[in-house]
Amino acid sequence: MKIRRLWLTLANAVFCLSLAGCQETPPVPLEPQTTIQKGLELSQRLSCWGCHQHQGQGADLGPNLDGVGNRLARAELEGQLQTPRGRHPDSRMPSFAFIRPFEHKALVDYLLTLQ
Ligand code: HEC
Repeated sequence: MKIRRLWLTLANAVFCLSLAGCQETPPVPLEPQTTIQKGLELSQRLSCWGCHQHQGQGADLGPNLDGVGNRLARAELEGQLQTPRGRHPDSRMPSFAFIRPFEHKALVDYLLTLQ
């Protein structure tokens, strides 16, 4: 019985490894500070600053994100990232619905800190 369970776990792990993006959550839960750091890195990697500005840095194709953490609620930020056209029908912002759930959360946690 125990050996059978071990095989099932191993088979599951191999199957999981063969799928890209299978791991939806990081192995160790991220501490809040780490999450915000991760969100900052994601904002750089995803080229948010190719369109937005924060504290005088970045571009001005989209609105300045200074104070966005005060202006918008978590749900609005989530909506903007998932379906920008849901908020602005003719939005020029691409959807970031493709990022993984924990990355999505890190990015929103980070945006909420922008004063
Ligand atoms: C190609 C340019 C472009 C890129 C890249 C882009 N955005 Fe935007 N973003 C916009 C535009 C334009 C708007 C204005 C509203 C709209 O069109 O949806 C906007 C609106 C927003 C808003 C709402 C601001 C407000 O005051 O209402 C947030 C928050 C935001 N973007 C965050 C991000 C983040 C985070 C990223 C990176 C993951 C990103 N954007 C990438 C163009 C972009």
